[in-house]
Parts: sequence; structure tokens; C-alpha cells
Amino acid sequence: MLHVKWNITQTPEEAGRLAADLFEAQIHAKPACVIGLATGSTPLPLYRELIARNAAGTLDFSRVRTANLDEYQGLAPDHPQSYRRFMQENLFDHINIRPENTIVPDGLAADIPAMCASYERQIEDWGGVDLQLLGIGHDGHIGFNEPCGEFPVHTHRIELTEMTRSANKRFFASLDEVPSAAISMGIGTVMAARKIVMIVTGADKAEILAEAFFGPVVPSVPASILQLHPDVTVICDAAAASRLPR
Ligand code: PGA
Repeated sequence: MLHVKWNITQTPEEAGRLAADLFEAQIHAKPACVIGLATGSTPLPLYRELIARNAAGTLDFSRVRTANLDEYQGLAPDHPQSYRRFMQENLFDHINIRPENTIVPDGLAADIPAMCASYERQIEDWGGVDLQLLGIGHDGHIGFNEPCGEFPVHTHRIELTEMTRSANKRFFASLDEVPSAAISMGIGTVMAARKIVMIVTGADKAEILAEAFFGPVVPSVPASILQLHPDVTVICDAAAASRLPR
């Protein structure tokens, strides 16, 4: 807990700029760094800021490697709702990153355990994640690590909860179209990152944010494990911070 650094901003855009500052510091310190990336609505202001800084010539992704947290099982990379496509459209297509330096779990892999093992191996071969970006789900999930009886260690397949499926149905035509399973980095994979940056915005996340960082460390609130990581920065807007203890 002592290690968690808190940054409270007025707006989600300001949170995105602050997170971009941390990305920039990481990339300047180590141009060939490995960054763990997340999808969802929360990182969009950050991604817009990274695109702007790359276009302005102040941020170079030519040697950066990225590994995404998760992917839906059963969606092809070019499916409109796949996380690979999300990353292409919201970041990769607009910056000078090399396609071979970006990995996202393969949602169509026939042999899931083998794909998960090779995903972990690729991250290890790159030297491990230097900076991991996270959001948080309303149920406390990080990546697609849903509340459960124990913390899953490695990249794995997971059945999605109804809460997560219905939170994500806004992107699909109907709830039926939301995949029922996903591939996610494990909690151990996330905790192995040298530095973690979590962005949390909006009043709807206020309660879970307080529970994750000020409640007990339990697998029923997967993000609570971050209390044990030595280098976590939380960037949240005032609405998400409204339930934090003073
Ligand atoms: P959101 O998702 O950014 O779309 O709220 C966060 C998450 O589920 O981890």
C-alpha cells in the first residue's frame, strides 16, 4: 500500500495526458522497452495523446514492443470487436510501431494452452514487461481476470462473468453476440511487470477503486493484488476518486 502513488485529475483527458507523460518517460529511458497495453474506453484519451505526441515527433515507437492483456476467444483479429482490431484502430495504425513488435493473444488458437505458453515465452524473450497499463472492471477484474477463488498465475482462458459481458455489450449488436470466454494474461503475468499504471475514470468506478486499494487482498477482487506490487501508479479522475478514504 505504501508503494501506491496516487494522481487525481479533474478530467479523463487530463488523466490520459498524465499517463502519456509516464509512457514518454519510460520510452525515453529505454527506447526498446516492453509495454503492456489494455483496451476499453478508459485508455482512449491516453492513446489519442500518444498518437499526437508521435505525430509531433516527440515520441518514437520504432523500437517499442507491446503485449496486450487480453482478447476474446472466438473472434478473428479483424473482427470489429476484437481487441487486436481495437488496438490497430485506436493506436497502432497511427504511430510508428512495427507490426511484429505488437502481440495480442490469438482468439482463434486451436490449442489454447500452447498459445498461452508461447505468449508468456514471447514476453520473457523480450525481457519482461517494463510498464503495464491497466484499467479496472466494475467487479475488480484486471485484464479479463474475473473474481474467483484464487489468483490465476499465467496467461489462460477464462469464462466471462455476466457482469463483464453486459458491461461490454455496448460494443456489440446484442448480449448474445458478446463472446462467453476470453484469453487473458494471468495475475502473475501482470504482477511481474516492473511498473504498473492504472487509469480509472468515472463515478461508476469509485466504489471498486476504493475496495481494490483499501480493502483486503482477495481473489474475489482481482485488482486488490496490486497492493502487493512495489511500483503502482493510479491515475484517476475526481469522480473515480470520490470514495477513496481521505
Ligand atoms: P473500460 O473497461 O475502460 O471500458 O471501463 C475497463 C476494464 O474492464 O478493465
